[in-house]
This record gives sequence, C-alpha cells and structure tokens, in this order.
Amino acid sequence: MNPASAKKPALLGGPQTRIKPFALRKTMGDLEKKAVMEVMDSEVLSGFFGSPGPLHLGGPRVRSFEQKWATKYGFKHAISVNSWTTGLMTAVGAVGISPGDEVICPPYTMSASATSILFYGGIPVFADIDPETFNISPAAIERVISSRTKAIMVVHLFGQAADMDAICAIAKKHGLKVIEDAAHAPGITYKNRPVGAIGDVGGFSLNYHKHIHTGEGGMLVTNDDKIAQRCQLIRNHGENLVEWLEVEDLSNTIGANYRLTEMQAAIGEVQLDRLDAYLAARKRLAVHLSNRIAKIPGLTPPKISIGNEHAFYVYAIRFDAKIVGLDRKRFAAAVNAELPKPESWDQTGLSEGYVKPLYLAKFYQEKVALGHKGFPWSMNPDVDYSYKKGAWPIVEDCYERSLLLTSLVREPLTESDMDDFADALEKIAANAKVLNESSI
Ligand SMILES: Cc1ncc(COP(=O)(O)O)c(C=O)c1O
Repeated sequence: MNPASAKKPALLGGPQTRIKPFALRKTMGDLEKKAVMEVMDSEVLSGFFGSPGPLHLGGPRVRSFEQKWATKYGFKHAISVNSWTTGLMTAVGAVGISPGDEVICPPYTMSASATSILFYGGIPVFADIDPETFNISPAAIERVISSRTKAIMVVHLFGQAADMDAICAIAKKHGLKVIEDAAHAPGITYKNRPVGAIGDVGGFSLNYHKHIHTGEGGMLVTNDDKIAQRCQLIRNHGENLVEWLEVEDLSNTIGANYRLTEMQAAIGEVQLDRLDAYLAARKRLAVHLSNRIAKIPGLTPPKISIGNEHAFYVYAIRFDAKIVGLDRKRFAAAVNAELPKPESWDQTGLSEGYVKPLYLAKFYQEKVALGHKGFPWSMNPDVDYSYKKGAWPIVEDCYERSLLLTSLVREPLTESDMDDFADALEKIAANAKVLNESSI
C-alpha cells in the first residue's frame, strides 16, 4: 500500500487526495475571435438560401469549413448541420428509411442516435453491446436482423470505432445501409480508415462538450454522391430544390432548416486545426492513466481493439465489485470525495455508468413517439417491440454495475493530474474493507 493509500478515506473524515480543482478546458482563442469578427464585419451571418441557386449550399465560410473537413480526412463530401441530432436525422432520411423500416441500433448511446430513426417513421431495434469495448456487437446485430431491417446505426461509443469490418460485412450480406454516429470520435481511424464514412454516411457532433465545437453543430460525411445530395436537400428545404436539380428520387427530400451559420463555420475551421493536438493529449493521458489503473485489482482500463485509435471522449473503466470489495456506488462516492468538488461536467472524477438504456425511457415503454396512435410501431402490428427490461443484459450490467466513466482524460490536464486521480482510485480500493464496515 502506498503511503497515501494508508490514510483514512476522505469520505470517513480523512484527508482528501487532492484539493486543487482540475483545470477547466479553454476552448476559444484569439483565432476563433478573429474569425468571428471577420464574419461580423462581412455582415453575412448566414449565406444560405432555401431556393434554387448556388447559395442553397450556404455561404463562403460554411463551404470552406466543409471543404477543409473533407480534405483533411479524405472524405468525398462533408455537409455541415446545426447539430449532430439534426445530422443524424438527415442521415436517416438520406439513406431512404421509410415508415415501418427497422434500423438496428445500440441501446447504450445518447437518445438522438435512436430518435433520429423515429423521425422518419423507422423503428429502432436494439442490439446489445460488446462488454469490453461498449460498442454494438456484430453477433447481436445478426440476431435481430429481420425482413424489415433496412439499416444499422453504429455508434463509436466513448471515442473508439465499433467493429466496422464485421458490421459492414453483415450489412453487405443483407443489403443494409450503415450510418455511423461518430459524435464521440472525430478525427480517428479504424484500420487506417477515417471513421464517419466507412459505412454509407456518418458524422460528428460539434456541440460544446465535444473535442472541438461550434457551440452547437455537426458535420455529416459520406463518399456517396447521391447520399451527399440528399443530405444537402434535407438540410435546406429540399422541396424547393428538387425540380431545379432534377432529382429523381423524391423520397425524404422535403427538407428543413438545419443550416450552420457563417460564424459557427468560421469557428469550426479554426477548431479543426486544434483537433489533432487534443487527440494526442488525450491519448497520452489515457496511456498514463491506464498504466496506473491496470495495477488496481477489480478495475480494468479501456480495451483498444487492434487497428483502432481511441478519441477518449470519455475514459471508461470496467469495475468488478466482487474483486474491489465495494459496490460501485460506494466506490464512486468515496473516490469523488477524495477529489475537488466539480463545478463543471469536465471536472467529474467518476460517474456511474453512462446513460439509462434507451429502451427503458417511458416513450419506448408506452410507444408514444409521434402522435397518439402508436406510430411508427403501429406500422408493423404483428411484431412484438416490447423493449423488455432484461433483454439486453450487457447494457444493463454496464448501467447498473460494471461501468465507471471519468471526464478527466482531456486537455489541458497533465500526467500529474492523472496521478492524483489514480492515487484516489488506489486509496479507495485499498480501503474497501474500512469503507464497507463503516456506516458513514
Ligand atoms: C453519441 C451521440 N450521438 C448524438 C449526439 C447528438 O449530438 P448534438 O448534441 O450535437 O445534437 C450526441 C451528443 O452528445 C452523442 O453523444
């Protein structure tokens, strides 16, 4: 036991492992400010028109941001949107989902991965995840494929790509489209291929919490010309453009206004230049932390599959209560008590699990999504979409018992910050018995 671990846990009145707050992220610099001022001076805060003409694709900043993103990673097309939620909706529409079509999706993800399916009348069919990578399991996908399945929504959870070779092979075999929700994984590769457009279409979130951001925003990417055009139509009032563009397949081309502003695009261009440094910093910190965590019995650092990079949007730890000798709730509370109280989400020491499994949300349980008549599940009245608790055991185990997350693996934190965090984990693991015996 190291000397710090020998001390009484802070939860029981002992000294905290660390008092000084973890540094907050500083995301906006002079270059972003300058870029915004240039747009202000130009007076063109949005260049879009929802009518025939070149401006149906947006103004100069939007187009150069898209071009820069596409060129940097070698995507044929990049299409900006005003959030990744609307980006996902756009992708679902663009691949041609129709009411009653089933789309396979992991249940352990942000709600929008699945609600985007519902907005086109598609029905989310959930497939369980891999317990080591937390990504959708190809074997589980195969188990839920039906004659109604039209697409797979892959989520590269926490920043690591799912098993895309296996998933794309399944998709090819069954004639399915693949959408990649890479909200957590900008700028990383899977077997040397940039994630986002390994499938048919995918993309990234640019909301405030992400590696790089434009406040709100998103970027769709695809190598398919037809899908790219359909995304552009959905993003910006396709109904006014299809005749002018002589589009033959009108399905889902009635559009909305999902347009990014010129100011956001200007910020995004600068942010994109920062991404590689952020990813490198997170990777360096993760390696350091993983080396420490690997020595703590009952805690397992993230497994990175062969050929994968990891963006470490958050850092996931697998937790075995039996080995640690404490339940997860008590362990997380005790570790957090060792650390300064977070004043912001990115100072969180440990949180228990990720989101509630999506199917447990009331609207899935009661099948009330769009209107009051059970749509879209009502499209397939003979199919049992009961979303029963217990049907996705690995997700439920992560949610209830085995997953811990930290937001501390991020710039501008340092290896020394990681050591403080690891010291807190070590101290609590070493004091499991005392904590178990105490009623405080
Ligand atoms: C996995 C995932 N998908 C989709 C989204 C939605 O992105 P946005 O907030 O940009 O709409 C998020 C947002 O956190 C997410 O984490």
